[in-house]
Amino acid sequence: MGIIFNEKEKLFKLDTPNTSYVIGIVGSDGFLGHAYYGKKLSDLQGVKDLMRIYEAPFTPDTNARDRLSFLDCFPTEYSGHGVGDYRESSIRVKTAAGHSAVQPYYVSHEIYKGKRKLEGLPATFGAEDAVETLAITCMDPALNLQMVLEYSVFADTDAIARSVKVTNLDENALYLEKVMSGCLDMDNRDFDLITLHGSWARERHMQRLPLGCGKHSVGSLRGESGHQEHPFMAVLEHTATQTRGDVYGFHFVYSGNFQAMAEVNQFNQVRVLMGIQPEDFCWKLEKGESFQAPEMIMTYSANGIGGMSRSFHELYRNHLIRSPYKNKKRPILINNWEATYFDFNEEKLLDIAKEASQMGIEMLVMDDGWFGNRCDDNRALGDWEVNEDKLKGGLKKLVDGVNALGMEFGIWFEPEMISPESKLYEEHPDWAIAIPGRTPGLARNQFVLDISRKEVRDCIVEKICKVLHSANIKYVKWDMNRPLSDIGSACLPADRQGELYHRFVLGMYEMQERMLSEFPDLLLENCSGGGARFDPGMLYYSPQIWCSDDTDAIERLAIQESTSMIYPLSSMGAHVSVCPNHTVGRNTPFETRGYVALAGTFGYELDVTKLSEEDKAMVPRQVAMYHQFNDLVREGDYYRIASYQENHLYDCFQVVSKDKKESLVFFVQVLGEPNMHSRNIRLQGLDENAEYALWDVTVEPGKELLQETEVSVKGDTLMYAGMQVQRMWGDFKAKLFYFKKK
Ligand code: GLA
Repeated sequence: MGIIFNEKEKLFKLDTPNTSYVIGIVGSDGFLGHAYYGKKLSDLQGVKDLMRIYEAPFTPDTNARDRLSFLDCFPTEYSGHGVGDYRESSIRVKTAAGHSAVQPYYVSHEIYKGKRKLEGLPATFGAEDAVETLAITCMDPALNLQMVLEYSVFADTDAIARSVKVTNLDENALYLEKVMSGCLDMDNRDFDLITLHGSWARERHMQRLPLGCGKHSVGSLRGESGHQEHPFMAVLEHTATQTRGDVYGFHFVYSGNFQAMAEVNQFNQVRVLMGIQPEDFCWKLEKGESFQAPEMIMTYSANGIGGMSRSFHELYRNHLIRSPYKNKKRPILINNWEATYFDFNEEKLLDIAKEASQMGIEMLVMDDGWFGNRCDDNRALGDWEVNEDKLKGGLKKLVDGVNALGMEFGIWFEPEMISPESKLYEEHPDWAIAIPGRTPGLARNQFVLDISRKEVRDCIVEKICKVLHSANIKYVKWDMNRPLSDIGSACLPADRQGELYHRFVLGMYEMQERMLSEFPDLLLENCSGGGARFDPGMLYYSPQIWCSDDTDAIERLAIQESTSMIYPLSSMGAHVSVCPNHTVGRNTPFETRGYVALAGTFGYELDVTKLSEEDKAMVPRQVAMYHQFNDLVREGDYYRIASYQENHLYDCFQVVSKDKKESLVFFVQVLGEPNMHSRNIRLQGLDENAEYALWDVTVEPGKELLQETEVSVKGDTLMYAGMQVQRMWGDFKAKLFYFKKK
């Protein structure tokens, strides 16, 4: 890791363990250009030429008559607006006089150890010896607008975190209408684009397409990152695979409206941009005021998609997740949502807990329906007081009862919401986000609270903390079950209504921060109608996020594959549920459901008292399996071997311990194929020279979890020649292979 400034060449070189990123200052005006991002370079000779500045007539100092031609092809670090770069801009304003143009010019820079916090926002962090930062100050002198671009590099990870802070140094107020967090210009190298798309119960399915001319974007206008598109993009060589080829990954550390775009222009140059969605965004900057844009992560891998995944995993595990649980085995929980929905009382919950505790399950999570008059999803959001008709004797009694069984207790909240039928709404109808004169749209019969207002945040946080103080509660599931609409705040002036979407996100972050500082040992799991707010921003607050309301093991293969392409397995909330599955009606073997959930946080979401004897007997075996393998799954390196999303037949992935002494291979045969007797899979990440013994894993009651086999194979054989997986009889069959260095 290191950042240098070459004074003579006016080049900055930012190094991570295996990559270099080069920025240049060009011309007497001080244009800030992008020269290179890729495999680590040993020095800077010749690198300046990559910015095309010696190509006549595109040299601004010597050819002012063609300044527009220069700007329209110059690979820039942060694109301006309205002065000649006709590609997508990074920043746009509205001045008092009605003008929108901006152009950043280099002024000064600072290189410092460590990384500063981004006020009010989640962001990566690191100690002074683990991270180094370059802050480049740019100005638009015509506007008196300052833009500070920050880049941080990490000693242990091939990732660069960047962000932008904009300050109005003028006498007059100015409106910021667009501010991207990062821009990257490169020449197109026959690139493909990977983006993630989905819906409720079908989150983050992967799309890979050749990157053609024009603009390609994903985004959200829902006030959250959303089920539909993900704040992520990968630009990769068309021939890149899991193990080979150049891959650039971009991810946005933010949980609200976003836009990510890749544009291919007339000269076959690619521009990638990522930031807050400019639509419906307008932030007023009075004299001296600043706006801090959220952080964007960039990673480059010369070793295919797998290399990108492992860089993101390392970065998030070491420099983004703060929770004291991040390196710990989480308690195996059982959640009552799919078991009871709203139909429960303390007796039912204690029945579930009693049975579950005997099977080794460690925590009961009481989901939606425990508060106010919440007998269904039509009412009571905001009334965060325990419903004692349902839970006789109150919450403490229930929690004590669960604790007496040797289990911990967790609880569900949906703090950002308000039901029209609630005491809170009766008292504060203006607390709902709405536009005067327009009936606000309902979703799941609820409105969104205007948490841009401090008094609203104070009231809700106080209510939550009161509940959490009232009993021994170790876990919170923080849900958010509808998108924002009808954007209007009763408190913001007309020219600040365009700030509401972002102020909402800042408000939510502040609420989580306050709850966590009051309960620092709380295990927080974020959730949003399943995985609609599964993003790096939320990971800063909670070490795990509920991945999807779809608990079907086969659908989960796709969801979890794309999620784990970016996020560590330890962050994916995954539970075993009953069949026929409540979302798709599919029947899958209980073992398979367990193996798929093992690849995430692992837990249960069913009524254990109603399980068949056969399945019941398997639960303690699955519990043992979790204890055996969770350290490896949580902390190991992740390798994708085969994708069910691509081949529609089988799925295979692997985790390898950091010391390469252990590895666990997950294989799911989604469809049985006729006359197909075995399948060759090539493992990855092992020690070439070591010999590995193979252990079969079984959750069959009465048998040892690990079954010794005769097989003992060298790492190079397993990786380069592979191993044969025998066909299993039927669909949805799964198998785990455990390898241990001899
Ligand atoms: C959302 C969550 C579910 C459950 C319900 C409760 O859909 O994703 O897990 O908590 O809300 O209403």
